[in-house]
Amino acid sequence: MADQKTPLTKAFVVEHLDPELGPWSALEYGCIARESHARGARFLLSSVPAELQMPADLAATQGLEVEQRSVEDIFADIKDRVCLLDPAAQVELSPADGENFDVFLFGGILGDDPPRDRTSELRKKGYAGRRLGPKQMTTDTAVRVTRLVVHEKVPLEDISYVDYPEIHVSEHERTEMPFRYVVDAKGQPIMPDGMVDLIKKDADKGVDDLF
Ligand SMILES: C[S@@+](CC[C@H](N)C(=O)[O-])C[C@H]1O[C@@H](n2cnc3c(N)ncnc32)[C@H](O)[C@@H]1O
Repeated sequence: MADQKTPLTKAFVVEHLDPELGPWSALEYGCIARESHARGARFLLSSVPAELQMPADLAATQGLEVEQRSVEDIFADIKDRVCLLDPAAQVELSPADGENFDVFLFGGILGDDPPRDRTSELRKKGYAGRRLGPKQMTTDTAVRVTRLVVHEKVPLEDISYVDYPEIHVSEHERTEMPFRYVVDAKGQPIMPDGMVDLIKKDADKGVDDLF
């Protein structure tokens, strides 16, 4: 596996599709930035409105490139090298796509249950699409899985996941997260630093309001 790694010139782009950028998105984006930076990949957060106030912690994160331009403008000259990760795509992402594409594009959308297919806003732009399996992932999980497939060359089906994990928010209460996550060496879902505390803090809200 390790000897098959592709030299990383890849860019991961999250096109921010919401007018605001709340604490959940800030934790996810910060996590993507740190992981990308640690592995020599670029991470661009695109279509960020000029008037949007970036949370200070996020703005200071190493590896984060904030862009007011959209992905279409930034990568206009290499449109055929851009791959949209799309839950409705007909083709699954495979290690060979590391050679087919240089830019991997994700919807900067908080997960929702049931999914509202807001990725369709990016689908309209006409990029080649790839799916990461049938289950909805958080945006940071989708980037992590894409990196494992195209950089580490791990086939999608060989990655260890946990679906809909429960988080203990108090001694007697649990919240089910309606997403698929990659697991760590201890079998625990990989989530951004601070996410479990945020889930606990927001536990009294309905899950639809969380993301
Ligand atoms: C939290 S998901 C949002 C899905 C969402 N409910 C929607 O309205 O499309 C954020 C992004 O992660 C990526 N993503 C998540 N799960 C995926 C999957 N199973 N296949 C492909 N991409 C996925 C997509 O780029 C998606 O726009």
